Amino acid sequence: MTKNKAELHYDGKTLELPVLEGTEGELALDINKLRQESGLVTLDHGFMNTASCTSAITFLDGENGILRYRGYPIEELAEKSTFVEVAYLLVYGELPNVERLKWFKEKLNTFTATKPELKQLIQHFPKSAHPMGVLASVLSAMSAYYPEYLDPELKPDQVDNVIAQTMAQVKNFAAYNYRASQGQSLIDAKASNEYCTDFLAQMYGSNPDPEVAKALNILLILHADHEQNCSTSTVRLVGSSQANVYAAISSGVNALWGPLHGGANQAVIEMLQEIQADGGGYKKFILKAKDKNDNFRLMGFGHRVYKNFDPRAKIIKQACDAILTKLKIQDPLLDIAKGLEEEALKDPYFVERKLYPNVDFYSGIIYKALNIPTNMFTVMFALGRLPGWLAQWKEMNESPATKIGRPRQIYTGSTVRSYVPMDKRS
Ligand code: SDX
Repeated sequence: MTKNKAELHYDGKTLELPVLEGTEGELALDINKLRQESGLVTLDHGFMNTASCTSAITFLDGENGILRYRGYPIEELAEKSTFVEVAYLLVYGELPNVERLKWFKEKLNTFTATKPELKQLIQHFPKSAHPMGVLASVLSAMSAYYPEYLDPELKPDQVDNVIAQTMAQVKNFAAYNYRASQGQSLIDAKASNEYCTDFLAQMYGSNPDPEVAKALNILLILHADHEQNCSTSTVRLVGSSQANVYAAISSGVNALWGPLHGGANQAVIEMLQEIQADGGGYKKFILKAKDKNDNFRLMGFGHRVYKNFDPRAKIIKQACDAILTKLKIQDPLLDIAKGLEEEALKDPYFVERKLYPNVDFYSGIIYKALNIPTNMFTVMFALGRLPGWLAQWKEMNESPATKIGRPRQIYTGSTVRSYVPMDKRS
């Protein structure tokens, strides 16, 4: 991939560094030899300018609001594909033909049974437990029941199995946790159902309106992968130590939980409800978001990569209108969200900082219309992101370039000093 070279002039020396180019023209300074040849390391808080890996799974162009899974535009996949087909595409790199899609669906159905002990574990959590904490715990607990998948050197068919098993089980865990929190009996998966239809049937006890299942397919497709975001980078970092897939994915769930990341979809609805309770005037909240002395942020706005519209937000906003019309729901929160967006996009503070609605801004309104409880919104994000995490974990394990992740630091603490006996301390 090397296209060119860069020169670093430092301390009287000139160091040549290769410049690598990706298939979409992205350029990177290869600093693998930087410390060894110059004694320098780079400091990049939040890895804002640092690529942690090469990857062939997802391409983002933040300036132009482009998102593609394995080269396919997100707009086409959301309109024409299904979540299970997109999961296959992310993991295996190509859209499945009839036989391969049948194979994948049968693989998913092979692993629909959940160990009774794991069901009991879910049922023993307090009803008030946050579903993300339950999901992360039960995912980790799978390591106690499936020792065959703890082997750092899994064979390809075992990788296929553990990917299908994790997708089948996380769907169960999410629905089981909801039913247990409502004091209801658990509903097992039904192989004859399509994945999203079955998840909703396991949640509510009956098959949903096909339009509702379609809306969920679109939402999960839009969340399925997003290159090296915080939670995916966590999955890769944990996986790079050859910890098992359950540990890696459970770590991804924990990273996603944060309100600056996947937890934002819950925070958006709570913010919209706060605005509604305050009389619906959002101008006051725009001022709060701009006030440096106020730690209020416009949740669902802004993005590390997108400095233009998040293409997913555009699709979700359209899906919002469609599903609320279909279900004949008038949700005042949608009107508040649209008003907030219109106001913010006119405000120099947001325009100068290129803060646009992101994937989380409208998604909660659809989840609410599907009767998903607010504290489960981030679990829905995790259900969608799961195939992306698994695809990235698989790609990391297959890459000869992968090394255990171990960043450097710049030490700013005390220089060397001698121990002070207690009677000499102030
Ligand atoms: C996701 O990375 C991914 O791909 C993530 C994701 C995925 O699919 O995996 O897309 C999913 O996590 C989407 C983001 C969800 N989070 C939120 O909606 C929370 C609200 N957004 C922000 O906290 C923030 O925009 C982040 C965390 C998303 C991005 O933060 P950055 O890139 O570190 O930017 P920053 O915090 O340094 O902000 C730059 C400036 C600052 O102002 P100045 O210091 O320059 O004056 O913009 C301001 C910030 O104060 N700013 C906001 C703001 N977001 C940024 N001000 C008010 N409201 C906001 N939402």
